[in-house]
Amino acid sequence: MAENSNLEIVSASSDQVEWIISMARKEGWNPGDNDAIAFQQADPSGYFIGLINGKPVCCVAGIKFNHIAIIGYYVVVKEHRGQGHGMRIFQLSVNYLNGYNVRVDGLLIHAPKYQNSGFKIAHVNVRYTRAVDNSTISCPFVCTASSLPFDKILQYDARFYADERKHFLAGGSMLEQQIA
Ligand SMILES: CC(C)(COP(=O)(O)OP(=O)(O)OC[C@H]1O[C@@H](n2cnc3c(N)ncnc32)[C@H](O)[C@@H]1OP(=O)(O)O)[C@@H](O)C(=O)NCCC(=O)NCCS
Repeated sequence: MAENSNLEIVSASSDQVEWIISMARKEGWNPGDNDAIAFQQADPSGYFIGLINGKPVCCVAGIKFNHIAIIGYYVVVKEHRGQGHGMRIFQLSVNYLNGYNVRVDGLLIHAPKYQNSGFKIAHVNVRYTRAVDNSTISCPFVCTASSLPFDKILQYDARFYADERKHFLAGGSMLEQQIA
């Protein structure tokens, strides 16, 4: 635990956010290409990074929307695990989100940890993937999201999400690459 006392947790800069995204990739997760920018625009202070002697060792994102918030990107560098850094940075994000209805996107194996932290399982999802060749999309009702009025996308999204995600959806060039 000695190392933990040297841990300095700060709000992440843009470069540090890139490091956070790279940590997620290393874990085999597949964050969207524009996630960093979209989340940062939704909540510019929501990414946290833990440093020891200036070197990043852990991270978490606690992103506020209107009344809902999400926690993700919770990772500690392998050789620094098991020393309390994870718990410290996670707790900091929980404190940061005080007053919000918080959702954690967690791995099932970590469910008991989150339950210990006061979270309840809301649902379990299974993700399937396959490669799609864009040129094969020929449906006349399919178009790029950026060609639609933004308000329409916002209204549509609100039907499936419990909060308005204006900044998230508008984040950077996110919509330019999406298909509606
Ligand atoms: C999960 C992870 C971030 C934990 O970091 P860590 O620094 O090793 O964790 P700590 O040393 O702070 O853990 C101390 C204790 O708190 C528990 N703990 C850690 N995070 C917790 C949380 N968010 N809520 C409740 N308990 C937690 C640990 O299980 C451990 O308990 P134990 O001593 O009974 O085993 C780290 O193992 C990791 O990066 N794993 C790979 C990425 C990953 O799976 N992230 C989580 C995605 S859901």
